[in-house]
Amino acid sequence: MNSLDEHLVKGVGVYAGTFDPITNGHFDIIKRAAHVFDKLIVAVADVGKPGLLFSLEERIAMVRESVDLWGEPAVHVCGFGGLLVKFVRSVGARVVVRGLRAVSDYEYESQMAMTNRQLDSDIETFFIMTSKEYSFISSSIVKEVARHGGDYSDFVPGHVVAKLEKAFGRS
Ligand code: COA
Repeated sequence: MNSLDEHLVKGVGVYAGTFDPITNGHFDIIKRAAHVFDKLIVAVADVGKPGLLFSLEERIAMVRESVDLWGEPAVHVCGFGGLLVKFVRSVGARVVVRGLRAVSDYEYESQMAMTNRQLDSDIETFFIMTSKEYSFISSSIVKEVARHGGDYSDFVPGHVVAKLEKAFGRS
């Protein structure tokens, strides 16, 4: 490892989201963040967001299966409830990881980053630009295509396709 690489390695990062379901875009961020932090915790939010298709347990299981198939031991998956900054502190981290897909994400993400910083000034938000092939993907788009029987197999890991097909009564 050269000295530049050593500077990139910075303890624990927390990549939080709803993951309803995890997409290849999320996984792109997980893989890239895992190369920046010693340990990455993928934190699946127990949120009461309207329109969720999968339970917290199902969402955690899908993220965990993706990570297990990849086989990177430094990535851990768990659920969390309540404030993200409290969860981040509870696992000994100081950094929240978020993916940015397009300019349209900026407003929401900056609002969230500033709120988190207001709640706990020690917590920093670290943004990773989503790779361009995934920049248009969202969990809602995937669910919309799946609901109407379109081909979304390029957008999510293979095991998630099976879960979506089941959820929409096609297996
Ligand atoms: N690839 C593909 N899709 C992506 C993506 C990427 N790299 N990055 C974001 N998205 C999509 C998601 O699929 C999701 O799409 P959807 O709206 O169609 O479902 C959308 O962008 C945002 O999802 P996600 O990144 O999972 O974040 P979120 O907004 O669902 O999660 C929490 C936000 C849960 C992290 C945040 O609400 C939170 O921290 N809640 C805890 C309570 C709290 O602390 N609140 C105060 C902080 S604001």
